[in-house]
Amino acid sequence: MDKFIIKGSSVLSGSVRISGAKNAALPIMAACLLTDEESILHGIPPLSDCLAMKSILESFGAMVIWNPLKQSLIIRPQGIKTCEIPYELATAIRASFLVMGPVLARFGQATLDMPGGCNIGLRPIDLHLKGFAALGAKIDIEHGKTLASAKYLIGDKIYLDFPSVGATENIMMAATLADGLTTIENAATEPEIVDLANFLNTMGANVKGAGTNTIKITGVKHLHGANYTIIPDRIEAGTLMAATAARGGEIFLEDIAGDHLKPVIAKLREMGVDISESANGLRVKSPGFMYLDATEIKTMPHPGFPTDLQAPFTSALALVKGNSIVTETIFENRFMHVPELVKMGANIKIASRSALIEGVECLSGARVMATDLRAGAALVIAAACADGTSEIENIYHIDRGYYKLENKLLNLGVKIERVSIDASIEKVV
Ligand code: UD1
Repeated sequence: MDKFIIKGSSVLSGSVRISGAKNAALPIMAACLLTDEESILHGIPPLSDCLAMKSILESFGAMVIWNPLKQSLIIRPQGIKTCEIPYELATAIRASFLVMGPVLARFGQATLDMPGGCNIGLRPIDLHLKGFAALGAKIDIEHGKTLASAKYLIGDKIYLDFPSVGATENIMMAATLADGLTTIENAATEPEIVDLANFLNTMGANVKGAGTNTIKITGVKHLHGANYTIIPDRIEAGTLMAATAARGGEIFLEDIAGDHLKPVIAKLREMGVDISESANGLRVKSPGFMYLDATEIKTMPHPGFPTDLQAPFTSALALVKGNSIVTETIFENRFMHVPELVKMGANIKIASRSALIEGVECLSGARVMATDLRAGAALVIAAACADGTSEIENIYHIDRGYYKLENKLLNLGVKIERVSIDASIEKVV
């Protein structure tokens, strides 16, 4: 168990290389199960969620060779012996469910316990299952396990009630090996969906329209292995942008595409942050929270403001003079960082699905707890801006989605240290 100790820091400055996107890495690792040939993936950060997905692939009998230094991964899915994931692995991460589509498509059946992941809402899987059923799969739910089976899948038209990222990915993967044309309407349009579609097409699939609300997949008989580099993580980039906006300073995000961050860039500019885009990356320059303008944010499916950046922006706005409103429309339980921010002196009230924020002049360092991945990142930002020292516990949540966040922040000038809890107890004794 590690924790972060963060001292209120001076302005951020420097250049940072963003890691590969966790939310692209997980479905793409799962998609490697669609073939028996070897795939090589580049830019996969050794995050605990990616390591959990590696264990899931191995539990099927696939061989996975990881080079954490090069952040590359060789996946050899020849020796698959089972179509069921062990309970401990299925419940470790939400994305465990993403293997269901590929395994069902390739082997005709897949069994899984309810997936785990951040406790930010109910997170049902009904849309994934409706999609599989539309492709001809029989779905049985017994003793908490979901079993999907089909001799073969047949393409169909599927309308998603909500543009779910995971359901779009799962159905898209299953449909690559289905017979005929599958059309997903009201599909999610996130950049990670486009990255998955590009990977599937590199494997020999026929996926068109990814990035729009209608995706058309013409099934093929066979997919082959692929060599692929995933996109950089727009959420990690957005988190560092929020930190710079609040604390002030100037940073350069290397190789980050502004296209993936349009709603975030627009909101930051509205608040008074200067952002310039070039072919090499993004430059972010902020005078700091005392000079920024309050604003309203409403999370929406892409290309709206990403729910994964709601918590980091709530932290930043806690210090911005005036009244801001942050409304969460995607998940029901995503304000767990707010009580922790209040402990640090923030003035935030929750009314239904909105956080009503009255900016305070300063936050004060405190001992706080990360309750989920993005809530943890929000506390890191608050601590970097606070007077005094903060201790953030349960940072294993942060490690699920940010690779060596402390090293990146340290290089940008944040006074942050990772301490193992055992070591800090020893110090006190
Ligand atoms: C993915 C991301 C996560 C991000 C989220 C929304 C990954 C690994 N995770 O999660 O970081 O916060 O997109 O951008 O890519 N829903 C249903 N039924 C379903 C599926 C979803 O009702 O079958 C609901 C969910 O409860 C939630 C909303 O739809 O309220 C969005 O969920 P979804 O887009 O599926 O998110 P994930 O794929 O789980």
